[in-house]
Amino acid sequence: MAVVKTVVVVGLQWGDEGKGKVTDLLASEAQMVVRYQGGNNAGHTVVVGDQEFKLHLIPSGILYPGTLCVLGNGVVIDPKVLLAEMEELAARGIDVSGIRISDRAHVILPYHPLLDRLEEDSRPAGKIGTTGRGIGPAYVDKYNRYDAIRMVDLVQPEVFKDRLAMVLERKNRLLREFYHHSGLDFQAIFDEYSAYAQRLRDRVVDTASLVNAAIDRQERVLFEGAQGSLLDVDHGTFPFVSSSNPGAAGVCAGTGVGPTKIRKVLGVIKAYSTRVGEGPFPTELPEQEVSLLRDGRGREYGVTTGRPRRCGWFDAVISRYSVMINGVNSLAVMKLDVLDHFTTIRICTAYRYRGELVKTFPSSLKMLAECEPVYEELPGWRRDTSSIKHYEDLPKEARAYLDRISELSGAPVDLVSVGWRRDETIVRRNVWE
Ligand code: IMP
Repeated sequence: MAVVKTVVVVGLQWGDEGKGKVTDLLASEAQMVVRYQGGNNAGHTVVVGDQEFKLHLIPSGILYPGTLCVLGNGVVIDPKVLLAEMEELAARGIDVSGIRISDRAHVILPYHPLLDRLEEDSRPAGKIGTTGRGIGPAYVDKYNRYDAIRMVDLVQPEVFKDRLAMVLERKNRLLREFYHHSGLDFQAIFDEYSAYAQRLRDRVVDTASLVNAAIDRQERVLFEGAQGSLLDVDHGTFPFVSSSNPGAAGVCAGTGVGPTKIRKVLGVIKAYSTRVGEGPFPTELPEQEVSLLRDGRGREYGVTTGRPRRCGWFDAVISRYSVMINGVNSLAVMKLDVLDHFTTIRICTAYRYRGELVKTFPSSLKMLAECEPVYEELPGWRRDTSSIKHYEDLPKEARAYLDRISELSGAPVDLVSVGWRRDETIVRRNVWE
């Protein structure tokens, strides 16, 4: 029987778990890295030597020469951002020739970020706190079907011209009549985006065939999730979510790879919790207590928007839920070193809701907002862990903390990150095996 060597890297919290670093580590052994959802709302930081790379759309595998980097059909592509990112990488000596884009992926056009911002501003209360990159409006067009433009349309000038003319007419009506905006100019968009199409044309292919062929050749294929499980439009803290399926199930729809071909789901989770944007966050610490996590080594500021991240203790109700909905069979615990200075560390094991103990993650935000975390306290290790290379060398309190996370979440801890750099990682088990 053929051996399938596929790993999905999926975030188990609200994004920013450190997926970029994990993907980068695993990509060194992969032939292909594939993104399956989201767009340039993502921000993945990868540190190589003394160089730091911030990637929004291009898979982190780009830093390895010879690795094919695929943007699957489930990704929404802003061609302007993609080309800018490619140029920036090329200027720093990175080979970008391995980038392939699905012909079925949907395109973000200038009216998408504009509508994203106008829609947010028009919401009197309960803003979603989007990144303003046009992600939601682009997915709305996809599911609405009529107004969508795919990469395959963009690269055919006649098709693009007709579709853009039709769609823009409708968008301008919406902009003028509902938002009192002056509207956007057809010719300017057509000229600019036709030039982008020209530059991207050769990379736009049937990526489902490409990825499946690689799997059939038994190559190592890594699926790189963006955002996190709690930002999943189906399973997250709706409506404070993104508009795609960052969960492992998103791989199948977002790449054209069947579920029987997915072998390992590596759940990436921070040793504590963070969240950007609005929405409930049961273990959130009050502003005056977050600095130990947010500043210093934590550096908890958004890669895409620079916003300070909200911070709190590890929430095992969430990790258990995310392990379940993704079928996680391996865990990467990130940023353990950020906890090095704490005397006592807390883990939320359940919520208390109106006197009752709740162990499953509620769908109702109203209920979630009323949930009080039930904490278990573990002793801190108060030692620098950043130079530790082997699991056995971690202080016993740190190992006890990781064991407890594993036990409460229901999956083994195979990777532990103790710093920003690639080599500040403890590999307990090879994820590819
Ligand atoms: P959108 O994806 O721009 O529509 O934003 C929807 C929500 O997802 C907001 O709360 C964003 O802050 C959040 N979000 C989107 N992408 C990321 C990410 O890569 N990391 C963390 N949060 C994200």
